[in-house]
Amino acid sequence: MLTSFDDIPQRERIIVALDCDAGRAVELASVLAGHATWLKIGMTLYYQEGPMIVARLKARGFKVFLDLKLHDIPFQVRGAAAAAAEYGADMLTTHAMGGADMMRAVVEGAAEGAKKINASAPITLGITVLTSMDQKALSAIGVTRSVPDQVVSLAQQAQQAGLSGVVASAQEASQLRQTLGNDAYIVTPGIRPAGSEVGDQKRVATPKQAFSAGASHIVIGRPITQSADPAQAFENIVEGL
Ligand code: C5P
Repeated sequence: MLTSFDDIPQRERIIVALDCDAGRAVELASVLAGHATWLKIGMTLYYQEGPMIVARLKARGFKVFLDLKLHDIPFQVRGAAAAAAEYGADMLTTHAMGGADMMRAVVEGAAEGAKKINASAPITLGITVLTSMDQKALSAIGVTRSVPDQVVSLAQQAQQAGLSGVVASAQEASQLRQTLGNDAYIVTPGIRPAGSEVGDQKRVATPKQAFSAGASHIVIGRPITQSADPAQAFENIVEGL
Protein backbone atom coordinates (compact mmCIF):
# COMPACT_ATOMS: atom_id res chain seq x y z
CA MET A 1 0.00 0.00 0.00
CA LEU A 2 1.42 3.40 -1.00
CA THR A 3 1.70 6.08 1.66
CA SER A 4 3.37 9.46 1.97
CA PHE A 5 5.89 7.76 4.24
CA ASP A 6 7.39 5.55 1.55
CA ASP A 7 10.34 7.91 1.11
CA ILE A 8 11.37 7.46 4.74
CA PRO A 9 13.35 4.23 5.20
CA GLN A 10 11.37 1.67 7.17
CA ARG A 11 14.17 1.35 9.75
CA GLU A 12 13.45 4.96 10.68
CA ARG A 13 9.80 4.07 11.16
CA ILE A 14 10.32 1.45 13.85
CA ILE A 15 9.58 2.73 17.35
CA VAL A 16 11.16 0.81 20.23
CA ALA A 17 8.89 0.75 23.31
CA LEU A 18 10.91 1.14 26.51
CA ASP A 19 8.63 -0.42 29.09
CA CYS A 20 11.31 -0.59 31.79
CA ASP A 21 12.90 1.54 34.50
CA ALA A 22 14.98 4.62 33.75
CA GLY A 23 18.34 2.92 34.26
CA ARG A 24 17.53 0.22 31.72
CA ALA A 25 15.95 2.81 29.37
CA VAL A 26 19.16 4.81 29.25
CA GLU A 27 21.19 1.62 28.85
CA LEU A 28 18.98 0.54 25.94
CA ALA A 29 19.30 4.00 24.42
CA SER A 30 23.10 3.63 24.41
CA VAL A 31 22.90 0.18 22.85
CA LEU A 32 20.35 1.21 20.22
CA ALA A 33 22.09 4.46 19.21
CA GLY A 34 23.00 4.29 15.53
CA HIS A 35 20.32 1.65 14.95
CA ALA A 36 16.93 2.91 16.11
CA THR A 37 15.53 6.38 15.41
CA TRP A 38 12.51 6.36 17.75
CA LEU A 39 12.00 5.38 21.39
CA LYS A 40 8.63 5.24 23.13
CA ILE A 41 8.11 6.26 26.75
CA GLY A 42 4.88 4.98 28.29
CA MET A 43 3.13 6.28 31.36
CA THR A 44 4.79 3.98 33.88
CA LEU A 45 8.30 5.12 32.99
CA TYR A 46 7.15 8.73 32.70
CA TYR A 47 5.37 8.82 36.04
CA GLN A 48 8.37 7.22 37.71
CA GLU A 49 10.98 9.49 36.19
CA GLY A 50 9.25 12.68 35.06
CA PRO A 51 10.14 14.86 32.09
CA MET A 52 13.88 14.37 32.58
CA ILE A 53 13.65 10.95 30.98
CA VAL A 54 12.53 12.64 27.75
CA ALA A 55 15.49 15.01 27.93
CA ARG A 56 17.92 12.17 28.61
CA LEU A 57 16.78 10.19 25.57
CA LYS A 58 16.66 13.28 23.37
CA ALA A 59 20.22 14.09 24.43
CA ARG A 60 21.25 10.74 22.95
CA GLY A 61 19.83 11.79 19.59
CA PHE A 62 16.55 9.87 19.57
CA LYS A 63 13.11 10.98 18.54
CA VAL A 64 10.79 10.46 21.48
CA PHE A 65 7.23 9.17 21.36
CA LEU A 66 5.65 10.19 24.67
CA ASP A 67 2.64 7.91 25.00
CA LEU A 68 0.69 9.49 27.86
CA LYS A 69 -2.81 9.16 26.30
CA LEU A 70 -4.03 12.59 27.42
CA HIS A 71 -7.72 12.78 28.35
CA ASP A 72 -9.05 15.76 30.33
CA ILE A 73 -10.73 19.11 29.80
CA PRO A 74 -9.24 21.16 26.94
CA PHE A 75 -7.48 23.58 29.31
CA GLN A 76 -5.60 20.72 30.97
CA VAL A 77 -4.60 18.82 27.85
CA ARG A 78 -3.46 22.02 26.15
CA GLY A 79 -1.10 22.66 29.06
CA ALA A 80 0.10 19.08 29.20
CA ALA A 81 0.74 18.92 25.44
CA ALA A 82 2.55 22.28 25.53
CA ALA A 83 4.80 21.10 28.35
CA ALA A 84 5.52 17.80 26.64
CA ALA A 85 6.42 19.56 23.39
CA GLU A 86 8.57 22.06 25.23
CA TYR A 87 10.75 19.39 26.76
CA GLY A 88 11.15 17.79 23.36
CA ALA A 89 8.54 15.08 22.77
CA ASP A 90 8.25 14.42 19.03
CA MET A 91 5.05 12.35 19.15
CA LEU A 92 2.13 12.47 21.59
CA THR A 93 -1.11 10.56 22.16
CA THR A 94 -4.57 11.60 23.29
CA HIS A 95 -7.86 9.71 23.61
CA ALA A 96 -10.17 10.45 20.68
CA MET A 97 -13.03 9.70 23.10
CA GLY A 98 -12.28 13.06 24.73
CA GLY A 99 -14.00 14.81 21.83
CA ALA A 100 -13.16 17.37 19.18
CA ASP A 101 -12.53 20.37 21.44
CA MET A 102 -10.15 18.36 23.59
CA MET A 103 -8.24 17.00 20.60
CA ARG A 104 -7.94 20.48 19.08
CA ALA A 105 -6.55 21.72 22.38
CA VAL A 106 -3.87 19.01 22.26
CA VAL A 107 -2.86 20.05 18.74
CA GLU A 108 -2.75 23.73 19.70
CA GLY A 109 -0.90 23.13 22.93
CA ALA A 110 1.66 20.91 21.20
CA ALA A 111 2.30 23.60 18.58
CA GLU A 112 2.66 26.29 21.26
CA GLY A 113 5.15 24.25 23.25
CA ALA A 114 7.24 23.40 20.20
CA LYS A 115 7.37 27.05 19.17
CA LYS A 116 9.01 27.96 22.46
CA ILE A 117 11.98 25.73 21.66
CA ASN A 118 11.95 26.53 17.92
CA ALA A 119 11.07 22.95 17.08
CA SER A 120 8.45 21.72 14.66
CA ALA A 121 5.14 20.70 16.21
CA PRO A 122 5.03 17.13 17.51
CA ILE A 123 3.07 14.45 15.72
CA THR A 124 -0.27 14.03 17.51
CA LEU A 125 -2.02 10.65 17.55
CA GLY A 126 -5.50 9.64 18.62
CA ILE A 127 -6.23 6.52 20.62
CA THR A 128 -9.52 5.08 19.39
CA VAL A 129 -10.66 1.95 21.27
CA LEU A 130 -8.15 0.41 23.67
CA THR A 131 -7.36 -3.14 22.58
CA SER A 132 -8.14 -4.20 26.14
CA MET A 133 -11.79 -3.37 25.40
CA ASP A 134 -14.09 -5.72 23.51
CA GLN A 135 -17.67 -5.37 22.34
CA LYS A 136 -19.05 -6.15 25.79
CA ALA A 137 -16.86 -3.52 27.45
CA LEU A 138 -17.94 -0.92 24.87
CA SER A 139 -21.63 -1.73 25.43
CA ALA A 140 -21.13 -1.43 29.17
CA ILE A 141 -20.15 2.23 28.76
CA GLY A 142 -23.08 2.84 26.42
CA VAL A 143 -21.39 2.58 23.03
CA THR A 144 -23.67 0.61 20.74
CA ARG A 145 -21.51 0.72 17.61
CA SER A 146 -19.37 -2.31 16.78
CA VAL A 147 -15.71 -2.07 17.76
CA PRO A 148 -14.51 -1.62 14.13
CA ASP A 149 -17.14 1.05 13.43
CA GLN A 150 -16.22 2.88 16.61
CA VAL A 151 -12.51 2.73 15.68
CA VAL A 152 -13.15 4.20 12.22
CA SER A 153 -15.54 6.85 13.51
CA LEU A 154 -13.15 8.02 16.22
CA ALA A 155 -10.23 7.99 13.77
CA GLN A 156 -12.16 10.25 11.41
CA GLN A 157 -13.04 12.59 14.26
CA ALA A 158 -9.38 12.68 15.30
CA GLN A 159 -8.37 13.62 11.77
CA GLN A 160 -11.05 16.30 11.54
CA ALA A 161 -9.84 17.78 14.81
CA GLY A 162 -6.37 18.15 13.30
CA LEU A 163 -4.49 15.22 14.79
CA SER A 164 -1.74 13.74 12.62
CA GLY A 165 -3.15 10.22 12.84
CA VAL A 166 -3.98 7.33 15.12
CA VAL A 167 -2.60 4.37 17.00
CA ALA A 168 -4.15 1.20 15.57
CA SER A 169 -3.63 -2.53 15.39
CA ALA A 170 -2.31 -4.02 12.16
CA GLN A 171 -5.74 -5.59 11.68
CA GLU A 172 -7.31 -2.12 11.54
CA ALA A 173 -4.51 -0.47 9.58
CA SER A 174 -5.61 -1.15 6.02
CA GLN A 175 -9.14 0.09 6.50
CA LEU A 176 -7.86 3.15 8.34
CA ARG A 177 -5.33 3.84 5.59
CA GLN A 178 -8.19 3.87 3.07
CA THR A 179 -10.38 6.03 5.28
CA LEU A 180 -7.75 8.52 6.42
CA GLY A 181 -5.70 8.75 3.21
CA ASN A 182 -2.02 8.54 2.44
CA ASP A 183 -0.78 11.31 4.72
CA ALA A 184 -2.17 10.03 8.02
CA TYR A 185 0.15 8.58 10.64
CA ILE A 186 -0.94 5.05 11.50
CA VAL A 187 1.21 3.79 14.33
CA THR A 188 0.86 0.08 15.00
CA PRO A 189 1.80 -1.89 18.15
CA GLY A 190 1.26 -5.62 18.67
CA ILE A 191 4.15 -6.48 16.38
CA ARG A 192 6.06 -9.72 16.62
CA PRO A 193 8.87 -10.74 14.26
CA ALA A 194 8.11 -14.12 12.71
CA GLY A 195 8.95 -16.89 15.20
CA SER A 196 9.26 -14.71 18.31
CA GLU A 197 7.45 -14.94 21.68
CA VAL A 198 3.94 -13.53 21.51
CA GLY A 199 3.70 -12.89 25.29
CA ASP A 200 0.45 -11.18 26.33
CA GLN A 201 -0.26 -9.76 22.86
CA LYS A 202 -3.24 -11.56 21.37
CA ARG A 203 -3.59 -10.23 17.84
CA VAL A 204 -0.15 -9.88 16.36
CA ALA A 205 1.35 -9.09 12.97
CA THR A 206 4.90 -9.27 11.70
CA PRO A 207 6.68 -5.98 10.92
CA LYS A 208 6.37 -6.66 7.21
CA GLN A 209 2.64 -7.44 7.45
CA ALA A 210 2.00 -4.26 9.44
CA PHE A 211 3.81 -2.02 6.94
CA SER A 212 2.04 -3.70 4.01
CA ALA A 213 -1.29 -3.18 5.77
CA GLY A 214 -0.61 0.55 5.69
CA ALA A 215 1.13 1.32 8.98
CA SER A 216 3.36 4.39 8.76
CA HIS A 217 5.24 3.37 11.92
CA ILE A 218 5.38 0.19 13.99
CA VAL A 219 5.94 -0.12 17.75
CA ILE A 220 8.03 -3.03 19.01
CA GLY A 221 8.96 -3.53 22.63
CA ARG A 222 9.94 -6.80 24.24
CA PRO A 223 11.21 -8.63 21.14
CA ILE A 224 13.95 -5.98 21.09
CA THR A 225 14.27 -4.83 24.71
CA GLN A 226 14.30 -8.33 26.24
CA SER A 227 16.68 -9.73 23.67
CA ALA A 228 20.21 -10.62 24.80
CA ASP A 229 21.42 -8.33 22.00
CA PRO A 230 18.86 -5.56 21.40
CA ALA A 231 20.82 -3.90 18.58
CA GLN A 232 21.10 -7.21 16.72
CA ALA A 233 17.40 -7.92 17.33
CA PHE A 234 16.62 -4.53 15.81
CA GLU A 235 18.84 -5.24 12.79
CA ASN A 236 17.23 -8.67 12.32
CA ILE A 237 13.85 -6.99 12.17
CA VAL A 238 15.09 -4.50 9.58
CA GLU A 239 16.58 -7.38 7.60
CA GLY A 240 13.22 -9.15 7.53
CA LEU A 241 11.33 -6.17 6.08
O1 C5P B 1 6.55 -5.35 24.20
P1 C5P B 1 5.53 -5.07 23.15
O2 C5P B 1 6.06 -5.13 21.74
O3 C5P B 1 4.25 -5.88 23.32
O4 C5P B 1 5.16 -3.55 23.40
C1 C5P B 1 4.17 -2.90 22.69
C2 C5P B 1 4.01 -1.50 23.17
O5 C5P B 1 2.87 -0.95 22.52
C3 C5P B 1 3.76 -1.36 24.66
O6 C5P B 1 4.36 -0.13 25.07
C4 C5P B 1 2.27 -1.28 24.77
O7 C5P B 1 1.82 -0.50 25.84
C5 C5P B 1 1.88 -0.58 23.47
N1 C5P B 1 0.56 -0.89 22.99
C6 C5P B 1 0.11 -2.17 22.72
N2 C5P B 1 -1.14 -2.38 22.24
C7 C5P B 1 -1.95 -1.35 22.06
C8 C5P B 1 -1.52 -0.06 22.32
C9 C5P B 1 -0.25 0.15 22.80
O8 C5P B 1 0.84 -3.12 22.87
N3 C5P B 1 -3.13 -1.56 21.57
